[in-house]
Amino acid sequence: MEIGSQDIQAFINTVKSLSDYDFTDYSDKSLKRRLSKILLDGNLTTGSLLEKIKEDKAFLEKIVKDITVNTTELFRDPAIWHSLRYDILPLYQNQPCINIWHPGCSTGQEVFSMMILLNEMGLLQKSRIFATDINGDVLDVAREGVYKYRFNKSYLGNFDTVIRGNPHDSNTCFDVPYSKYFHVDKTRDNIRMKKLLLEKPVYKKHDLVRDPNPFGQMYDLIICRNVIIYFNYELQNKVFKLFLDNLTRGGCLVLGVHETILGPFATRFEKKYQAYFKK
Ligand SMILES: C[S@@+](CC[C@H](N)C(=O)[O-])C[C@H]1O[C@@H](n2cnc3c(N)ncnc32)[C@H](O)[C@@H]1O
Repeated sequence: MEIGSQDIQAFINTVKSLSDYDFTDYSDKSLKRRLSKILLDGNLTTGSLLEKIKEDKAFLEKIVKDITVNTTELFRDPAIWHSLRYDILPLYQNQPCINIWHPGCSTGQEVFSMMILLNEMGLLQKSRIFATDINGDVLDVAREGVYKYRFNKSYLGNFDTVIRGNPHDSNTCFDVPYSKYFHVDKTRDNIRMKKLLLEKPVYKKHDLVRDPNPFGQMYDLIICRNVIIYFNYELQNKVFKLFLDNLTRGGCLVLGVHETILGPFATRFEKKYQAYFKK
């Protein structure tokens, strides 16, 4: 379905006038793609979509969730997890406490990946894990920690690469069974995270567009991957400022593999190990 800039603007204005959500600074390309899908799936025109949004608050909430993309997986992009394990996390291992924030954590797989890694490194106990997302439904899934096996078989391969494999020595293999961290039940078609991983994280609904630091404290690591890719340049800079202001000195920001800091904040970070360190 063809969507013009006027349709996008009308959508943004309607949502903004009826709620706290503001998509003004989301990238046009991504909004266009998501809106087209919503219209097609619901057999709607832009006009009828806006009418429904005005009439039904629950429908508005649903559309907001459909606009944001929730794709994620356990140990997504294994190379960055190797870098976290061998280059980045060791920098903080002598601190009494490591504070980690995952903004845009979606259904939690990234948070579980981090906790598994920390546990293998003996750092989980002294770490505090904070995770946020604009979408409250995905946070409920994260709190449960149960995923469909059928759609997520790739988790096992990623686990092998990151946790069992050693990128510096292909002959070494760490013997860590999946069952240490999650149950795989093929008959019931699920992968269920173990209690050890469910109790630790503090989840909170948080909008990077308008909310301040959600936990009111400084972080050693901020892992925000595949979120700012949906924002325009202005909003990306606003978010970089939020991160910069709330990272400890020498603290580290990890972005997605296709995300970079351009513009005024580039000089405030040093790029190293595929990550950004606050100068
Ligand atoms: C593609 S997922 C990324 C999940 C995970 N970080 C990863 O890389 O696997 C993007 C997430 O960003 C969230 N998001 C989008 N806009 C947001 C905003 N303004 N504030 C907070 N989270 C947002 C979405 O709800 C979604 O869960």
